[in-house]
Amino acid sequence: MTDDMVIRPYEATDADGTWQVFHAAVHGTASRDYTREQVEAWSPPTVDEAAWHRRRSAAHTYVACLDGAVVGFSDFTDDGLLDMLFVHPRVGGRGVARALVTRILREATAAGLPRLHVHASLTARPAFERLGFTVDATRLAEIRGQQLQNFDMSTVIA
Ligand SMILES: CC(C)(COP(=O)(O)OP(=O)(O)OC[C@H]1O[C@@H](n2cnc3c(N)ncnc32)[C@H](O)[C@@H]1OP(=O)(O)O)[C@@H](O)C(=O)NCCC(=O)NCCS
Repeated sequence: MTDDMVIRPYEATDADGTWQVFHAAVHGTASRDYTREQVEAWSPPTVDEAAWHRRRSAAHTYVACLDGAVVGFSDFTDDGLLDMLFVHPRVGGRGVARALVTRILREATAAGLPRLHVHASLTARPAFERLGFTVDATRLAEIRGQQLQNFDMSTVIA
């Protein structure tokens, strides 16, 4: 675990940093488990930053920062979906996801949610299992014409 990491709520100025992390995580880490066509559909080369910011703001989003730069982010919605968990590949395997999910679980518990669900990628499934989630079902998600295998996982938090 990284001592100088800060986990804080998402701000409007984090839109570009969080998208950069998302894009790098999909193309740099998840490309181990998905084809080039699938990762290109999942994260195309450009984004509508205003729409991206609206989606991050619509959930309870938290960012992980190292030396002032966003290196990861996660979120949860009011109906108990942990929708996003992305860590930049250059800091992978150093506990950033664990720190983010620990904060998300704490905030979701404080919000009175009994359970959190996630649609976990093939890449993220082992990390979610280490973080206490179990697989409820396998599923195929359709993104921009590509089908990506992932897993419905959940954890009881209260
Ligand atoms: C999945 C992801 C978020 C993990 O981020 P990370 O910061 O590297 O994860 P951490 O270092 O915090 O690891 C958390 C725990 O999971 C374990 N873990 C992570 N990846 C693992 C793997 N592939 N196999 C086994 N264990 C794994 C770690 O050992 C750690 O366990 P511990 O804390 O008990 O020692 C990151 O790889 C990523 O962004 N992947 C691509 C994007 C993606 O698929 N996101 C999810 C969409 S649902």
